[in-house]
Amino acid sequence: MKAILLHKTGKPEVLKYSEVPEPEVGPGQVRVKLEYIGVNYAEILSRKGLYGWRPKGRAYIPGMEGSGVIEAVGDDVDPSLIGKPVMVGTQYGCYAEKVVVPVSQALPAIEGFTMQENAAFAVNYLTAWVALFELMKTQPEETVLITAAAGGVGTAAVKLCAAHGNKIIGLAGSDHKLELIKQLGAQKALNYRSQDYGKIIRQEDGGVDVVLEMIGGKIFKTNVKLTRPFGRLAVIGFASLDLKKWNPLSWYKTYRDIPRVDIATMSHQAIGIFSAHLGYLLKNPQRMLQSYEHLRDFVVKHNIHPVVGKVFALKDVAQAHRWIESRQSTGKVLLKV
Ligand SMILES: NC(=O)c1ccc[n+]([C@@H]2O[C@H](COP(=O)([O-])OP(=O)(O)OC[C@H]3O[C@@H](n4cnc5c(N)ncnc54)[C@H](OP(=O)(O)O)[C@@H]3O)[C@@H](O)[C@H]2O)c1
Repeated sequence: MKAILLHKTGKPEVLKYSEVPEPEVGPGQVRVKLEYIGVNYAEILSRKGLYGWRPKGRAYIPGMEGSGVIEAVGDDVDPSLIGKPVMVGTQYGCYAEKVVVPVSQALPAIEGFTMQENAAFAVNYLTAWVALFELMKTQPEETVLITAAAGGVGTAAVKLCAAHGNKIIGLAGSDHKLELIKQLGAQKALNYRSQDYGKIIRQEDGGVDVVLEMIGGKIFKTNVKLTRPFGRLAVIGFASLDLKKWNPLSWYKTYRDIPRVDIATMSHQAIGIFSAHLGYLLKNPQRMLQSYEHLRDFVVKHNIHPVVGKVFALKDVAQAHRWIESRQSTGKVLLKV
């Protein structure tokens, strides 16, 4: 089968479209013939060698999610699953025509979603859901500040909070994204590269109750200051960190920009800080299924559909990575098998 192999870390060109053996299905596993593959920021970090959640050694097939149909099952797995459409979540292996995963990581596709939407759902929506509603327990009357609000996780967060009744302020780094953020349900969208958004929010809103933080550096510091008493921040990403292992100058900047806040500050402001990494849910299939089912019920009830921004062919994965790194992308970027 065809797959993308990562032999060494580096620029997008290190992702090689290759011929590899089809993966064998073992006990407790299913093999899924993929139709679409979701591209995640974490895979860009993996490609650069900056992401811990990857297999030991190379070459390996990156890719954390996709949609497709179960085509084979292990001896101990219900054979009636063959032919069922699913969305797959895993640590790696999805940049391929086929992937083998434990049966618990092949979740039933959502009826009413296209296969593109199924591939765009699991990572972004579960991350936003767990952070906003399971950890921070966001209440409908609260004001939510969402960073990178036009991106994959960001658009998921805006749509979920809009359906939940929150007042939403979305932040993005380009003006062309601001209109999209408002269309998705935000009351306000600000450009954190060209506007003093902290000042605007303080003047017009007096602060925020909940922050979904994925950027780090100055943005994180500003967001901590904007959080009202009894407010919460969840740190789920560090998109502005630009560590280049070969460049010592970047080491200090990276160290400086890692989000940190001491308990004295939290106590002084009466705020809480959370963090979440979806990878841990894979280790706890029961909890993952519970979160997924709550999320799926909410999404179906409110007729929420993921935003698919752009679709590239599997062999053009390097272009897809470049597109996300350019900060021009909106919504979810997919690969088509
Ligand atoms: N904790 C978890 O389990 C988990 C799961 C999924 C994703 N994440 C994190 O959530 C964030 C969003 O992930 P995603 O896959 O949905 O990606 P994405 O938001 O679609 O793309 C990344 C966005 O980050 C923003 N950004 C800000 N500073 C940047 C910089 N210096 N360089 C590049 N981009 C920058 C850009 O938007 P603007 O130009 O509008 O700022 C860019 O579009 C990432 O930090 C990712 O690591 C965490």
